[in-house]
Amino acid sequence: MKNAQSWMQNLLIIFLLVFAQAPYAQQSQNDDKMDWFGEAKLGIFIHWGLYAVDGISESWSFYNEYISHEDYLKQLGGFTAKDYNPKKWAQLIAESGAQYSIITTKHHDGFALWDTQYGMLNAAQHSPAKRDLITPFVQAIRKKGLRVGLYFSLPDWSFEDYTHFTTNKKRYTIEEDPQRWAKYLNYMNGQLAELKTRYAPDIWWFDGDWEHQATEWNSSGIREFLSADQPQVIFNSRLNGKGDYATPEIGVPVYRPKDSFWELCMTINDSWGYQGNDTNYKSPMQVIDIFVDCISKGGNLLLNISPKADGTIPDQQSHLLKELGRWTKKHEAAIYKTQRGIAYEHFYGPTALSNDRKTLFVFVRDYPKDGKIVIKGLSNTIHRAYVVGNGTILEQQKISKVYWNRYPGIDYISIPKSAIDPYYTVVALVLDGPIKLYSENNGAIESN
Ligand code: GLC
Repeated sequence: MKNAQSWMQNLLIIFLLVFAQAPYAQQSQNDDKMDWFGEAKLGIFIHWGLYAVDGISESWSFYNEYISHEDYLKQLGGFTAKDYNPKKWAQLIAESGAQYSIITTKHHDGFALWDTQYGMLNAAQHSPAKRDLITPFVQAIRKKGLRVGLYFSLPDWSFEDYTHFTTNKKRYTIEEDPQRWAKYLNYMNGQLAELKTRYAPDIWWFDGDWEHQATEWNSSGIREFLSADQPQVIFNSRLNGKGDYATPEIGVPVYRPKDSFWELCMTINDSWGYQGNDTNYKSPMQVIDIFVDCISKGGNLLLNISPKADGTIPDQQSHLLKELGRWTKKHEAAIYKTQRGIAYEHFYGPTALSNDRKTLFVFVRDYPKDGKIVIKGLSNTIHRAYVVGNGTILEQQKISKVYWNRYPGIDYISIPKSAIDPYYTVVALVLDGPIKLYSENNGAIESN
């Protein structure tokens, strides 16, 4: 019976992969599939797995030989998920202001959080959690109206037919044994087919592509298969570049990235998975610093949390998400549905534009010495200046504007102390039309 079942499964995978080779007709409609993603701005990443039991680095601890594979797997016994409450997770994630959440279905260690029929390592059969942990998560997140992404590691260092085991031990090379590699792909594609059928995620978040070339993974085939009847699905870039958006990791882009879509994935302390010893938490202020930087540079922030093995989210992390939520709720007009702001030559700090480009949002971190922010070279008339989420109408003053040249002058906007936010105060400048910035000659102004 088992044999007949796995024979059927193999047939299904072969069929799906062959079918997937057909070019997908929806390619041209894919431009607007990124709309929601570009407007979402904030996502919550979740690294949850075996590694939370001992609080050691996810997968890398055995790959880098800090611990033997055997001892690493002993953590299975402690992965209870006994207090796992996906509704509570979803509530907290929604409260943070995130519009989507991405969970590790399987990290490089091969431990699957759903009850996969493939392989020998999953939460339902091989840990005291004894159940599929992904389905209730996906349901709870969708119930909150948020989108769901699945993180999936292409490498699986525990699987007997995978090429790499640890940094010093490789099982084989593809050239040596292509048939063995085909077995691995069959297993990997089987898991992907399961996840696709069960969850139809909004985002596929791949990881670990560096270990093999695109032709070895069949990256194009994977993409085509996973989007065959779901053309709107989005892929991150870690599919040997066959993705829809760039994924800088931890390094906040210093310059505005050229990519149309990008998402900075960022740890909440210094670890992806739960590590009790890592107390280097970012403060809410620091997370908001990073978030504002992403907004003003036209990208998203994917902020990671790391639940414990019992399924609880550490207090410090939930506190941070709640603080973040207080700020995002108040400032939603300046966060979602915005695009990258104006050059620093016009304002010494982060800004964003509404999608119609008629409102300029100015993010003010520190209270200016005289209470005034300074905007240079704005050719529009400012109809109204107010504090977002607070409503205070602000006084304006224009200086250095003469009738005989086109230079628009310098705008000063005064913010009363009473309107200051403990994190960033956001000033909205409602303009007379789409923003026009003075850039004549891009140099000395000599039009007299
Ligand atoms: C890296 C690491 C991994 C982590 C991920 C998150 O590629 O291998 O441990 O899950 O990035 O972006």
